[in-house]
Amino acid sequence: MSEYRTGLGWDVHRIGPNRAMIIGGITIPADFGLEGHSDADVLLHAITDALLGAAALGDIGMHFPDSDPQWKGVDSARFLEHALGLVREKGFELINVDTTVILERPKLKDYRLPMRERVAAILGLELDRVSVKFKTAEKVGPVGEGRSAEAQAVVTLRKP
Ligand code: C5P
Ligand code: MG
Repeated sequence: MSEYRTGLGWDVHRIGPNRAMIIGGITIPADFGLEGHSDADVLLHAITDALLGAAALGDIGMHFPDSDPQWKGVDSARFLEHALGLVREKGFELINVDTTVILERPKLKDYRLPMRERVAAILGLELDRVSVKFKTAEKVGPVGEGRSAEAQAVVTLRKP
């Protein structure tokens, strides 16, 4: 009988000036962006942690310390690809990914398909197995005040 695993990931990045806003591997036009050591792709970081979590492989900071200069400004797709490789080494295959990005503005819905396509390509999944949802924080709290962006991800793994 197959073994199934669920993994949960969450991330937050500050919003600031003079930074790109890269979410799900897609550059979002905005006059502000996400701050961080890497490219600060909050969505890819949450998915990376969900993958690592499902296989009990620790978390993103354990594998890619933000004190390490080799990860400065790096494309977060590399973190995700690495986590997928570790999960596969443990004998798991990825079934699906469901995510939510919480950001007050700009609106992201026009970028849903490119984000899903990018995540699906990185993970080697069919488009139908990758879900990306968006929410505002209703103007409440740091996300609602436009000071940060958050992302949540859940993945399912199967060991045949
Ligand atoms: O947060 P709220 O429920 O008001 O969001 C309404 C809709 O706006 C969501 O269904 C989502 O698709 C979209 N949205 C978006 N970009 C955001 C936040 C929400 O496209 N940054
Ligand atoms: Mg992060």
